[in-house]
Amino acid sequence: MNPADVRIAFFDTKPYDKDSFERQNSQFGFSLTFFPNHLTPQTVSLCQDFDAVCAFVNDTINAEVVDKLAGYGVQLIAMRSSGYNNVDLKACADRLKIVRVPAYSPHGVAEYAVAMMLTLNRNTHRAFYRTRDSNFSINGFMGFDLYGKTAAIIGTGQIGRIVCEILQGFGMKVIAYDPFPAKAWAQERGIELVDLEVAYEQADILTLHCPLTPQNIHMINRETIAMMKRGVMVINTGRGKLIRTEDLLEGLRSGQIGSAGLDVYEEETDYFFEDYSNLIVKDDVLARLLTFPNVLLTSHQAFFTQEAIANIAQTTLSNVREFFSGEKLTNEVLPPQKQAKA
Ligand code: NAI
Repeated sequence: MNPADVRIAFFDTKPYDKDSFERQNSQFGFSLTFFPNHLTPQTVSLCQDFDAVCAFVNDTINAEVVDKLAGYGVQLIAMRSSGYNNVDLKACADRLKIVRVPAYSPHGVAEYAVAMMLTLNRNTHRAFYRTRDSNFSINGFMGFDLYGKTAAIIGTGQIGRIVCEILQGFGMKVIAYDPFPAKAWAQERGIELVDLEVAYEQADILTLHCPLTPQNIHMINRETIAMMKRGVMVINTGRGKLIRTEDLLEGLRSGQIGSAGLDVYEEETDYFFEDYSNLIVKDDVLARLLTFPNVLLTSHQAFFTQEAIANIAQTTLSNVREFFSGEKLTNEVLPPQKQAKA
Protein backbone atom coordinates (compact mmCIF):
# COMPACT_ATOMS: atom_id res chain seq x y z
CA MET A 1 0.00 0.00 0.00
CA ASN A 2 1.28 3.42 -0.93
CA PRO A 3 -0.31 5.64 1.74
CA ALA A 4 -0.68 8.57 -0.67
CA ASP A 5 -3.02 6.39 -2.76
CA VAL A 6 -5.42 5.99 0.18
CA ARG A 7 -7.96 8.77 -0.17
CA ILE A 8 -9.98 9.60 2.94
CA ALA A 9 -13.03 11.88 2.94
CA PHE A 10 -13.67 13.59 6.28
CA PHE A 11 -17.17 14.79 7.12
CA ASP A 12 -18.46 17.36 9.61
CA THR A 13 -14.97 18.78 9.92
CA LYS A 14 -14.13 21.88 11.88
CA PRO A 15 -10.82 23.81 11.77
CA TYR A 16 -9.55 21.96 14.86
CA ASP A 17 -10.18 18.56 13.19
CA LYS A 18 -8.27 19.61 10.09
CA ASP A 19 -5.32 20.97 12.12
CA SER A 20 -5.10 17.88 14.25
CA PHE A 21 -5.45 15.33 11.42
CA GLU A 22 -2.99 17.15 9.19
CA ARG A 23 -0.46 17.25 12.03
CA GLN A 24 -0.80 13.53 12.82
CA ASN A 25 -0.89 12.61 9.12
CA SER A 26 2.77 13.60 8.77
CA GLN A 27 3.51 10.12 10.22
CA PHE A 28 1.04 8.37 7.87
CA GLY A 29 1.03 10.18 4.51
CA PHE A 30 -2.59 9.52 3.47
CA SER A 31 -4.51 11.82 1.09
CA LEU A 32 -6.98 13.73 3.23
CA THR A 33 -9.96 15.77 2.01
CA PHE A 34 -12.05 17.70 4.52
CA PHE A 35 -15.74 18.45 3.98
CA PRO A 36 -17.60 20.69 6.44
CA ASN A 37 -20.91 18.97 5.61
CA HIS A 38 -22.52 16.16 7.52
CA LEU A 39 -22.47 12.81 5.76
CA THR A 40 -26.12 12.24 4.78
CA PRO A 41 -28.03 10.71 1.86
CA GLN A 42 -27.79 14.17 0.24
CA THR A 43 -24.01 14.52 0.58
CA VAL A 44 -22.89 10.93 0.13
CA SER A 45 -22.20 11.55 -3.59
CA LEU A 46 -19.10 13.48 -2.44
CA CYS A 47 -17.55 10.07 -1.60
CA GLN A 48 -17.30 8.83 -5.18
CA ASP A 49 -13.52 9.04 -5.45
CA PHE A 50 -12.58 7.89 -1.99
CA ASP A 51 -11.38 4.67 -0.37
CA ALA A 52 -12.42 5.50 3.18
CA VAL A 53 -14.72 7.95 4.93
CA CYS A 54 -14.12 9.41 8.34
CA ALA A 55 -17.34 10.40 10.12
CA PHE A 56 -18.40 11.81 13.48
CA VAL A 57 -21.29 11.59 15.94
CA ASN A 58 -23.90 13.53 13.98
CA ASP A 59 -23.30 12.05 10.55
CA THR A 60 -26.06 9.81 9.16
CA ILE A 61 -24.75 6.44 8.08
CA ASN A 62 -28.03 4.67 7.39
CA ALA A 63 -28.76 1.87 4.91
CA GLU A 64 -29.17 4.34 2.03
CA VAL A 65 -25.78 5.95 2.70
CA VAL A 66 -24.11 2.55 3.19
CA ASP A 67 -25.53 1.28 -0.13
CA LYS A 68 -24.13 4.30 -1.95
CA LEU A 69 -20.73 4.09 -0.22
CA ALA A 70 -20.41 0.41 -1.13
CA GLY A 71 -21.44 1.21 -4.71
CA TYR A 72 -18.74 3.90 -4.99
CA GLY A 73 -16.11 1.41 -3.84
CA VAL A 74 -15.54 2.92 -0.39
CA GLN A 75 -14.15 0.13 1.77
CA LEU A 76 -13.88 1.57 5.25
CA ILE A 77 -15.87 3.80 7.59
CA ALA A 78 -13.51 5.21 10.19
CA MET A 79 -15.57 6.69 12.99
CA ARG A 80 -13.60 9.32 14.89
CA SER A 81 -15.82 8.77 17.93
CA SER A 82 -16.29 5.97 20.42
CA GLY A 83 -20.09 5.81 19.93
CA TYR A 84 -21.37 4.32 16.65
CA ASN A 85 -25.14 4.39 17.22
CA ASN A 86 -25.47 6.48 14.01
CA VAL A 87 -24.11 3.65 11.83
CA ASP A 88 -26.43 0.99 10.39
CA LEU A 89 -24.21 -1.96 11.27
CA LYS A 90 -26.49 -4.51 9.63
CA ALA A 91 -26.35 -2.64 6.33
CA CYS A 92 -22.53 -2.62 6.51
CA ALA A 93 -22.18 -6.36 7.18
CA ASP A 94 -19.91 -8.10 4.64
CA ARG A 95 -19.59 -4.90 2.59
CA LEU A 96 -17.90 -2.18 4.59
CA LYS A 97 -15.65 -2.44 7.63
CA ILE A 98 -16.15 -0.04 10.49
CA VAL A 99 -13.48 1.08 12.91
CA ARG A 100 -13.74 3.53 15.78
CA VAL A 101 -11.74 5.24 18.52
CA PRO A 102 -12.75 3.32 21.62
CA ALA A 103 -11.16 5.77 24.05
CA TYR A 104 -9.75 9.19 23.41
CA SER A 105 -10.01 10.81 26.76
CA PRO A 106 -12.23 9.08 29.27
CA HIS A 107 -10.73 11.42 31.87
CA GLY A 108 -11.77 14.47 29.85
CA VAL A 109 -15.39 13.31 29.54
CA ALA A 110 -15.59 12.26 33.20
CA GLU A 111 -14.12 15.57 34.37
CA TYR A 112 -16.63 17.41 32.20
CA ALA A 113 -19.59 15.52 33.68
CA VAL A 114 -18.36 16.53 37.13
CA ALA A 115 -17.87 20.13 35.94
CA MET A 116 -21.53 20.14 34.92
CA MET A 117 -22.56 18.89 38.37
CA LEU A 118 -20.52 21.56 40.18
CA THR A 119 -21.65 24.33 37.86
CA LEU A 120 -25.34 23.48 38.08
CA ASN A 121 -25.22 22.97 41.82
CA ARG A 122 -23.39 26.18 42.71
CA ASN A 123 -24.51 28.35 39.77
CA THR A 124 -21.02 29.57 38.96
CA HIS A 125 -22.03 30.05 35.31
CA ARG A 126 -24.74 32.50 36.32
CA ALA A 127 -22.59 34.19 38.98
CA PHE A 128 -20.00 34.98 36.29
CA TYR A 129 -22.55 37.07 34.38
CA ARG A 130 -24.01 38.68 37.51
CA THR A 131 -20.74 40.04 38.86
CA ARG A 132 -19.69 41.24 35.39
CA ASP A 133 -22.83 43.34 35.48
CA SER A 134 -21.87 44.62 38.95
CA ASN A 135 -24.71 42.58 40.41
CA PHE A 136 -23.26 41.12 43.61
CA SER A 137 -26.46 39.49 44.84
CA ILE A 138 -26.29 35.76 45.55
CA ASN A 139 -30.06 35.24 45.66
CA GLY A 140 -31.08 32.02 43.90
CA PHE A 141 -27.59 30.53 43.96
CA MET A 142 -27.93 28.27 47.01
CA GLY A 143 -26.57 24.79 46.30
CA PHE A 144 -26.05 21.68 48.40
CA ASP A 145 -22.98 19.92 49.78
CA LEU A 146 -21.99 16.99 47.59
CA TYR A 147 -20.42 15.42 50.66
CA GLY A 148 -22.70 12.70 52.03
CA LYS A 149 -25.08 12.76 49.04
CA THR A 150 -25.68 9.79 46.73
CA ALA A 151 -24.50 9.73 43.14
CA ALA A 152 -25.81 7.01 40.81
CA ILE A 153 -23.61 6.22 37.84
CA ILE A 154 -25.32 4.44 34.94
CA GLY A 155 -22.68 2.55 32.97
CA THR A 156 -19.37 1.68 34.59
CA GLY A 157 -17.18 1.55 31.51
CA GLN A 158 -14.10 3.69 31.09
CA ILE A 159 -15.83 7.01 31.69
CA GLY A 160 -18.31 5.92 34.36
CA ARG A 161 -15.59 4.42 36.51
CA ILE A 162 -13.56 7.62 36.51
CA VAL A 163 -16.69 9.58 37.46
CA CYS A 164 -17.25 7.17 40.37
CA GLU A 165 -13.72 7.68 41.60
CA ILE A 166 -13.82 11.49 41.33
CA LEU A 167 -17.14 11.68 43.20
CA GLN A 168 -15.85 9.43 45.95
CA GLY A 169 -13.18 12.09 46.42
CA PHE A 170 -15.95 14.53 47.33
CA GLY A 171 -17.16 12.12 50.03
CA MET A 172 -20.27 11.12 48.08
CA LYS A 173 -21.89 7.72 48.42
CA VAL A 174 -21.46 6.23 44.94
CA ILE A 175 -23.81 3.56 43.61
CA ALA A 176 -23.73 2.21 40.07
CA TYR A 177 -25.76 0.20 37.60
CA ASP A 178 -24.34 -1.71 34.64
CA PRO A 179 -25.88 -4.78 32.97
CA PHE A 180 -22.33 -6.18 32.76
CA PRO A 181 -21.00 -5.04 36.13
CA ALA A 182 -17.28 -4.98 36.87
CA LYS A 183 -17.66 -6.67 40.23
CA ALA A 184 -13.98 -6.86 41.22
CA TRP A 185 -13.43 -3.17 40.48
CA ALA A 186 -16.59 -2.18 42.39
CA GLN A 187 -15.61 -4.23 45.41
CA GLU A 188 -12.07 -2.88 45.44
CA ARG A 189 -13.33 0.72 45.18
CA GLY A 190 -16.24 0.40 47.60
CA ILE A 191 -18.84 1.13 44.92
CA GLU A 192 -22.23 -0.44 45.54
CA LEU A 193 -23.63 -2.12 42.41
CA VAL A 194 -27.41 -1.79 42.36
CA ASP A 195 -30.40 -2.50 40.14
CA LEU A 196 -31.47 0.30 37.84
CA GLU A 197 -34.63 0.97 39.87
CA VAL A 198 -32.57 1.41 43.05
CA ALA A 199 -30.26 3.81 41.21
CA TYR A 200 -33.28 5.88 40.16
CA GLU A 201 -34.78 5.86 43.64
CA GLN A 202 -31.68 6.70 45.67
CA ALA A 203 -29.80 9.19 43.50
CA ASP A 204 -29.35 12.83 44.43
CA ILE A 205 -27.29 13.05 41.24
CA LEU A 206 -27.89 10.60 38.38
CA THR A 207 -25.32 10.58 35.59
CA LEU A 208 -25.47 8.62 32.32
CA HIS A 209 -22.32 6.95 30.96
CA CYS A 210 -23.73 4.09 28.91
CA PRO A 211 -23.87 3.77 25.13
CA LEU A 212 -27.17 4.28 23.32
CA THR A 213 -28.58 0.91 22.29
CA PRO A 214 -31.97 -0.24 20.99
CA GLN A 215 -32.68 -1.47 24.54
CA ASN A 216 -32.09 1.80 26.39
CA ILE A 217 -33.55 4.46 24.08
CA HIS A 218 -35.51 6.91 26.29
CA MET A 219 -34.53 5.11 29.50
CA ILE A 220 -35.12 8.43 31.25
CA ASN A 221 -38.83 8.97 30.69
CA ARG A 222 -42.00 9.93 32.56
CA GLU A 223 -42.18 6.59 34.42
CA THR A 224 -38.55 6.47 35.47
CA ILE A 225 -38.49 10.18 36.38
CA ALA A 226 -41.45 9.50 38.70
CA MET A 227 -39.31 6.92 40.55
CA MET A 228 -36.59 9.48 41.31
CA LYS A 229 -36.12 11.66 44.40
CA ARG A 230 -37.78 15.04 44.09
CA GLY A 231 -35.17 17.59 43.05
CA VAL A 232 -32.73 15.07 41.54
CA MET A 233 -29.94 16.38 39.31
CA VAL A 234 -29.69 14.53 35.98
CA ILE A 235 -26.48 14.66 33.92
CA ASN A 236 -26.18 13.28 30.40
CA THR A 237 -22.87 13.24 28.57
CA GLY A 238 -23.79 9.88 26.93
CA ARG A 239 -26.19 10.23 24.03
CA GLY A 240 -29.26 12.46 23.66
CA LYS A 241 -31.75 9.71 22.99
CA LEU A 242 -31.13 8.15 26.41
CA ILE A 243 -33.59 10.83 27.61
CA ARG A 244 -37.08 11.50 26.35
CA THR A 245 -36.66 15.26 26.37
CA GLU A 246 -40.39 16.10 26.48
CA ASP A 247 -40.63 14.09 29.72
CA LEU A 248 -37.54 15.76 31.11
CA LEU A 249 -39.15 19.14 30.43
CA GLU A 250 -42.27 18.04 32.28
CA GLY A 251 -40.11 16.90 35.22
CA LEU A 252 -38.30 20.25 35.25
CA ARG A 253 -41.58 22.15 35.11
CA SER A 254 -43.02 20.23 38.05
CA GLY A 255 -39.83 20.44 40.13
CA GLN A 256 -39.43 16.65 40.18
CA ILE A 257 -36.14 17.24 38.36
CA GLY A 258 -34.10 19.83 40.25
CA SER A 259 -31.60 20.46 37.49
CA ALA A 260 -30.26 18.95 34.29
CA GLY A 261 -26.82 19.05 32.69
CA LEU A 262 -27.05 18.00 29.06
CA ASP A 263 -24.02 17.79 26.80
CA VAL A 264 -26.07 15.80 24.30
CA TYR A 265 -29.60 16.23 23.02
CA GLU A 266 -31.77 13.80 21.11
CA GLU A 267 -32.25 16.11 18.13
CA GLU A 268 -28.78 17.66 18.25
CA THR A 269 -27.75 16.78 14.69
CA ASP A 270 -28.90 20.01 13.03
CA TYR A 271 -27.71 22.34 15.77
CA PHE A 272 -24.71 21.12 17.72
CA PHE A 273 -21.29 22.33 16.53
CA GLU A 274 -22.99 25.08 14.45
CA ASP A 275 -23.42 28.83 15.08
CA TYR A 276 -27.11 29.70 15.19
CA SER A 277 -26.68 33.03 16.94
CA ASN A 278 -28.02 34.95 13.92
CA LEU A 279 -30.69 32.40 13.08
CA ILE A 280 -33.95 31.14 14.54
CA VAL A 281 -33.92 27.93 16.54
CA LYS A 282 -36.94 26.15 15.09
CA ASP A 283 -36.77 23.20 17.47
CA ASP A 284 -39.28 24.22 20.14
CA VAL A 285 -38.14 21.59 22.63
CA LEU A 286 -34.55 22.81 22.41
CA ALA A 287 -35.69 26.44 22.62
CA ARG A 288 -37.79 25.65 25.72
CA LEU A 289 -34.91 23.80 27.39
CA LEU A 290 -32.74 26.87 26.96
CA THR A 291 -35.18 28.99 28.98
CA PHE A 292 -34.68 27.05 32.23
CA PRO A 293 -32.18 28.59 34.67
CA ASN A 294 -31.53 25.11 36.10
CA VAL A 295 -30.60 23.56 32.75
CA LEU A 296 -27.02 23.67 31.53
CA LEU A 297 -27.01 22.62 27.90
CA THR A 298 -23.74 22.37 26.02
CA SER A 299 -22.92 21.35 22.50
CA HIS A 300 -21.41 17.84 22.78
CA GLN A 301 -18.10 19.18 24.02
CA ALA A 302 -17.30 16.79 26.88
CA PHE A 303 -14.64 15.10 24.75
CA PHE A 304 -13.03 18.35 23.66
CA THR A 305 -9.55 18.39 25.22
CA GLN A 306 -6.13 18.71 23.60
CA GLU A 307 -5.36 15.14 24.58
CA ALA A 308 -8.58 13.76 23.10
CA ILE A 309 -8.23 15.59 19.79
CA ALA A 310 -4.67 14.30 19.36
CA ASN A 311 -5.69 10.74 20.34
CA ILE A 312 -8.66 10.78 17.95
CA ALA A 313 -6.47 11.67 14.97
CA GLN A 314 -3.68 9.24 15.92
CA THR A 315 -6.01 6.28 16.52
CA THR A 316 -8.19 6.97 13.46
CA LEU A 317 -5.23 7.13 11.11
CA SER A 318 -3.66 4.02 12.58
CA ASN A 319 -7.04 2.23 12.20
CA VAL A 320 -6.96 3.23 8.51
CA ARG A 321 -3.37 2.05 8.15
CA GLU A 322 -4.20 -1.33 9.68
CA PHE A 323 -7.07 -1.79 7.23
CA PHE A 324 -5.20 -0.83 4.07
CA SER A 325 -2.11 -2.84 5.10
CA GLY A 326 -4.26 -5.93 5.59
CA GLU A 327 -3.44 -6.11 9.31
CA LYS A 328 -5.79 -7.28 12.04
CA LEU A 329 -8.12 -4.44 13.00
CA THR A 330 -7.61 -3.44 16.62
CA ASN A 331 -10.70 -1.26 16.82
CA GLU A 332 -13.20 -2.89 14.51
CA VAL A 333 -16.93 -2.52 15.21
CA LEU A 334 -18.42 -5.90 14.44
CA PRO A 335 -21.85 -6.36 12.86
CA PRO A 336 -24.58 -7.18 15.43
CA GLN A 337 -24.68 -10.96 14.86
CA LYS A 338 -20.87 -11.22 15.30
CA GLN A 339 -21.00 -8.91 18.38
CA ALA A 340 -23.43 -11.34 19.99
CA LYS A 341 -20.98 -14.23 19.44
CA ALA A 342 -17.85 -12.28 20.50
P1 NAI B 1 -17.50 1.94 27.53
O1 NAI B 1 -17.85 1.05 26.41
O2 NAI B 1 -16.15 1.87 28.16
O3 NAI B 1 -18.57 1.72 28.73
C1 NAI B 1 -19.93 1.67 28.55
C2 NAI B 1 -20.52 0.87 29.71
O4 NAI B 1 -21.94 0.99 29.64
C3 NAI B 1 -20.16 -0.63 29.66
O5 NAI B 1 -19.66 -1.03 30.92
C4 NAI B 1 -21.50 -1.30 29.35
O6 NAI B 1 -21.63 -2.57 29.96
C5 NAI B 1 -22.47 -0.30 29.95
N1 NAI B 1 -23.83 -0.41 29.44
C6 NAI B 1 -24.26 -0.90 28.25
N2 NAI B 1 -25.61 -0.81 28.18
C7 NAI B 1 -26.03 -0.26 29.35
C8 NAI B 1 -27.29 0.08 29.89
N3 NAI B 1 -28.41 -0.12 29.21
N4 NAI B 1 -27.34 0.64 31.12
C9 NAI B 1 -26.20 0.85 31.82
N5 NAI B 1 -24.98 0.55 31.37
C10 NAI B 1 -24.89 0.01 30.15
O7 NAI B 1 -17.84 3.41 27.04
P2 NAI B 1 -17.25 4.81 27.57
O8 NAI B 1 -15.96 5.11 26.88
O9 NAI B 1 -17.28 4.82 29.04
O10 NAI B 1 -18.35 5.82 26.98
C11 NAI B 1 -19.69 5.77 27.38
C12 NAI B 1 -20.54 6.57 26.39
O11 NAI B 1 -20.23 7.95 26.52
C13 NAI B 1 -20.25 6.25 24.90
O12 NAI B 1 -20.99 5.13 24.45
C14 NAI B 1 -20.68 7.51 24.21
O13 NAI B 1 -22.04 7.40 23.83
C15 NAI B 1 -20.54 8.59 25.29
N6 NAI B 1 -19.45 9.56 25.00
C16 NAI B 1 -19.76 10.88 24.96
C17 NAI B 1 -18.79 11.83 24.71
C18 NAI B 1 -19.09 13.31 24.71
O14 NAI B 1 -18.26 14.09 24.24
N7 NAI B 1 -20.22 13.76 25.24
C19 NAI B 1 -17.40 11.41 24.42
C20 NAI B 1 -17.17 9.99 24.53
C21 NAI B 1 -18.18 9.10 24.80
